[in-house]
Amino acid sequence: MAARSLLLIRGGRVVNDDSSLEADVLVEDGVVRAVGRHVLPPGDAPAGLRVLDAAGKLVLPGGIDTHTHMQFPFMGSRSVDDFHLGTKAALAGGTTMIMDFAIPHKGHSLIEAFDTWRSWADPKVCCDYSLHVAVTWWSDQVKEEMKILTRDKGVNSFKMFMAYKDVYMVRDVELYEAFSRCKEIGAIAQVHAENGDLIAEGAKKMLALGITGPEGHELCRPEAVEAEATLRAITIASAVNCPLYVVHVMSKSAAKVVADARRDGKVVYGEPIAAGLGTDGTHHWDREWLHAAHHVMGPPLRPDPSTPDFLMNLLANDDLTTTGSDNCTFNSCQKALGKDDFTKIPNGVNGVEDRMSIIWEKGVHSGKMDENRFVAVTSTNAAKIFNLYPRKGRIAVGSDADIVIWDPKATRTISAKTHHQAVNFNIFEGMVCHGVPLVTISRGKVVYEAGVFSVSAGDGKFIPRKPFAEYIYKRIKQRDQTCTPTPVKREPYKGEVVTLKSRE
Ligand code: URP
Ligand code: ZN
Ligand code: ZN
Ligand code: ZN
Repeated sequence: MAARSLLLIRGGRVVNDDSSLEADVLVEDGVVRAVGRHVLPPGDAPAGLRVLDAAGKLVLPGGIDTHTHMQFPFMGSRSVDDFHLGTKAALAGGTTMIMDFAIPHKGHSLIEAFDTWRSWADPKVCCDYSLHVAVTWWSDQVKEEMKILTRDKGVNSFKMFMAYKDVYMVRDVELYEAFSRCKEIGAIAQVHAENGDLIAEGAKKMLALGITGPEGHELCRPEAVEAEATLRAITIASAVNCPLYVVHVMSKSAAKVVADARRDGKVVYGEPIAAGLGTDGTHHWDREWLHAAHHVMGPPLRPDPSTPDFLMNLLANDDLTTTGSDNCTFNSCQKALGKDDFTKIPNGVNGVEDRMSIIWEKGVHSGKMDENRFVAVTSTNAAKIFNLYPRKGRIAVGSDADIVIWDPKATRTISAKTHHQAVNFNIFEGMVCHGVPLVTISRGKVVYEAGVFSVSAGDGKFIPRKPFAEYIYKRIKQRDQTCTPTPVKREPYKGEVVTLKSRE
């Protein structure tokens, strides 16, 4: 019989999204067994018990990064952080679960894409993971496959791109169909909200003006291009009473659209990312081409330098709800594919390793949010929306022991020279962050401690997710019952009706 694995985290401050308490945490076989004082009887030290001292430290649920693209074949290249190094880097930063995207090409099977991504991820992942699936075209097959993915494969979220014209972009009528289907099968619709037609036209215009450098990337897709698509997606989702999740909210205007919709009672959630909260788009104008190109992602980082603070305020207020990284990293030689034409620069930046520290520094250390809101936006809200709660996103009896021992006072300086990611550039280079993960525990196993990893490729697990997450679907179901329009009862009209002449 396998020996019990027992871990005691002693003397820390356990932080959940709704409360904090000084408590010990007892973990057995990967699951939290007890939270409180004296979780073991005095003098009881079972064989194999490992004790971690967390005095003066915070004990947090491991981070859930809602948005990554590991080894993503994209824009003629493949992102260099693969499921092995990318998830190792996640653990070093205090993230114990990532949610990646299986993205089929137009005309291709969603299930095949899902199986392909699983075959890439399963042997490599060092932390737990889940997959969103993209809907890049529409047909009866897609409609059927969405049902199968939700029923049999553990997928409850589908991403639709309103940008990347002719590649992944879908049009309004396809959004309408996809959102309607999401609602029928109990999934949440996700959108990349940018107007792909305007971007395509804007790019032609910039190139015609002789603007070939990375600044052209932002100039051809200003904030309004993101805000317009965000409002359009919310309008379509609302028309079919489908819950909506706007991925990578990058601008003040798009964030305001999400905030207004939430205040209007729409079931919509906005996800800012580490890049947008931690830095800005002024770098696109840097004199060094490579430096500028390494900041290119879509929607772009915004040149208005007050954007990160603004997004963080909305995140603190619950106008925005979760955080991802959109980690999609390309080395300098890959970014250089666009050296003469910004439209060919592979889009994407880092963030999976640094997301937690960036949010602590800019959110908690700055005084915008408290430790509980930090937990809400780095794990709990994601767990609730994507139906992983309370297994993930909480430290409580019965939850997976995905835990970080966090030093809120220590600082670290972010650098590509010391990060664990594969990519050779870091958009947060030189930033000093309070909030350092000292120990990361994944399903009860200490996988990262004092800079040392104890984890192997494949130790992470695929985490299936069930449809109809209560957190989002209670309101949706109630609205279906009470807000469905009914016809006005009238006596039939009995008067004269004009006769139309048929056209020759
Ligand atoms: O630039 C980005 N965001 N790259 C990844 C693909 C996407 O749109 O999320
Ligand atoms: Zn996107
Ligand atoms: Zn710069
Ligand atoms: Zn993305």
